[in-house]
Amino acid sequence: METRMITLKQIVLTLLLCITQVIGIQLDTSSKDSICDATSLIQDGMLDYYDGTRNGGIVGMFQSPYYWWQAGEAFGGMIDNWYFCNNNTYENLIYDALIAQTGDHYDYMPGNQTMVEGNDDQGVWALTVMGAVERNFTNPTGGRPGWLAMVQAVFNQMYSRWDTGACGGGLRWQIFTWNSGYNYKNTISNACLFQIAARLGRYTGNTTYLDIAEKVFNWLVEVEYVVLKDQGNVFDGAETDDNCSNIIRFEWSYNHGVVLGGLAYMYNATNGSSTWETRVQQILGGAQEYFFNDSIMYESTCQRGSTITCNNDQRSFKSIFSRMLGLTSVLVPSTSSSIDNLLRASAEGAAGSCTGGYDGHTCGLSWLTSSNDGIYGLGEQMSALEVMQNLLIHDKPPPFKTDNGGSSSGDASAGLNTTTTNVLRNELDITTSDRAGAAVVTAVILLVLIGGSIWMLF
Ligand SMILES: *[C@@H]1O[C@H](CO)[C@@H](O)[C@H](O)[C@H]1NC(C)=O
Ligand SMILES: *[C@@H]1O[C@H](CO)[C@@H](O)[C@H](O)[C@H]1NC(C)=O
Ligand SMILES: *[C@@H]1O[C@H](CO)[C@@H](O)[C@H](O)[C@H]1NC(C)=O
Ligand SMILES: *[C@@H]1O[C@H](CO)[C@@H](O)[C@H](O)[C@H]1NC(C)=O
Ligand SMILES: *[C@@H]1O[C@H](CO)[C@@H](O)[C@H](O)[C@H]1NC(C)=O
Ligand SMILES: *[C@@H]1O[C@H](CO)[C@@H](O)[C@H](O)[C@H]1NC(C)=O
Ligand SMILES: *[C@@H]1O[C@H](CO)[C@@H](O)[C@H](O)[C@H]1NC(C)=O
Ligand SMILES: *[C@@H]1O[C@H](CO)[C@@H](O)[C@H](O)[C@H]1NC(C)=O
Ligand SMILES: *[C@@H]1O[C@H](CO)[C@@H](O)[C@H](O)[C@H]1NC(C)=O
Repeated sequence: METRMITLKQIVLTLLLCITQVIGIQLDTSSKDSICDATSLIQDGMLDYYDGTRNGGIVGMFQSPYYWWQAGEAFGGMIDNWYFCNNNTYENLIYDALIAQTGDHYDYMPGNQTMVEGNDDQGVWALTVMGAVERNFTNPTGGRPGWLAMVQAVFNQMYSRWDTGACGGGLRWQIFTWNSGYNYKNTISNACLFQIAARLGRYTGNTTYLDIAEKVFNWLVEVEYVVLKDQGNVFDGAETDDNCSNIIRFEWSYNHGVVLGGLAYMYNATNGSSTWETRVQQILGGAQEYFFNDSIMYESTCQRGSTITCNNDQRSFKSIFSRMLGLTSVLVPSTSSSIDNLLRASAEGAAGSCTGGYDGHTCGLSWLTSSNDGIYGLGEQMSALEVMQNLLIHDKPPPFKTDNGGSSSGDASAGLNTTTTNVLRNELDITTSDRAGAAVVTAVILLVLIGGSIWMLF
């Protein structure tokens, strides 16, 4: 009797759970309401990891183990969701986060990150803030500079780090000499600079930015991190010790994505140059070949069949990759039909994976089998968010420009006179413990990075 009672109680509880909770994500890819309902659930799942609304939490940060750069990636997706779905529920949360993490000098070098920050971290945040510029997101108040000025500050600082001392140019991964990884010139740092310059050029109409973007891209091709052919390659980077000749040939979707997005902005900013269009097609061809299995997106370097070795960072790459595919489909209209098909198939696969967790709609890593693989976290949520919401990208105006819908105020010389830039001139006293702490943190990051990739060698 007792046993039966418990069983009955369990059944009732389970039924109640089913009634009160949404099990799985219903996604009709042709309906805006359906996409916005789905992404609203997914975004709420993402915010389960948000630190800024917890008691004593840090505004603009996600909880450990999520790094600062992933917060930058996450808010880029949330700005788009605000825009695509006309939903201002999280407008203040996003605004506060962007302001909290911009730092005292409005350059995305906040005090807590400065000593460990890499060019790629600052760059990913700048791509997100450029999204705020181009979506006409609520302008900063209280005498603060505009989002545009903040992106220009990042651009000016990153470009001031352009280094011709090795490999004929390029940015190093790390900003500071004492961080491990300083001798690595990686694609993502340079791809971010390339894309930031291309977007600033398109938005402001100042062709100096376009010239610099072209210079950065030419360097990526010269060192053969980017290989232009029908199925173009985008490799990860190389050490400066041997002049960047020993290339780490892993291909990650975020590298492809950020390069592709930069190319798309260049094509659009040059009024449809056929040179840039050809490059768009080549890198898109590579992206289609390497990161899609039967039109469904996957992170091929760490996901092979059911063998998954993706680390914390790599599990989020499909997020920024999806955003870049969406932007490309808008800025280069000839790519629209093929990209839209890839996004639709991937969004359906992603929805099929969102049946996990105690809430019944937590998303998984693999989208290939329309089932949940039990791998969950911030990266899985934001990737599902972005792949789904980019189906709406053609329903809204394209990224604004200064003379066409944008309202962000800029400052071409922002960011050039701060403590941070002075650090680069070795004018700041760095204590030994700062140095040691920073070295430990980057060593751990490097280990994780290598650990995630090492299985490939066998
Ligand atoms: C806006 O987003 C919130 C939070 O996800 C959600 O609860 C609400 O239903 C959304 N509003 C509309 C109109 O979709
Ligand atoms: C910096 O980090 C400390 C320790 O985690 C935290 O208490 C503080 O709020 C952070 N400050 C900012 C501005 O993020
Ligand atoms: C180093 O690499 C750059 C870029 O590929 C090249 O232009 C330069 O000639 C190389 N220098 C040496 C010494 O090999
Ligand atoms: C264009 O951008 C360059 C590079 O930042 C800057 O030096 C120049 O002042 C800008 N020109 C105008 C008219 O804003
Ligand atoms: C693109 O076209 C616009 C309008 O005709 C013109 O003002 C601008 O200079 C052109 N830009 C480039 C890079 O050719
Ligand atoms: C640039 O992007 C806009 C917005 O999607 C598009 O209408 C325009 O045709 C693009 N320019 C070219 C040359 O394709
Ligand atoms: C492609 O997806 C199928 C399942 O749809 C899977 O069996 C196959 O292993 C996948 N290929 C790779 C390279 O992951
Ligand atoms: C952009 O925002 C400004 C300030 O809120 C507003 O005046 C303007 O109408 C907005 N532009 C568009 C295209 O919505
Ligand atoms: C740079 O900052 C220093 C110290 O705050 C100030 O004295 C100097 O005038 C500034 N220079 C420019 C060009 O703003």
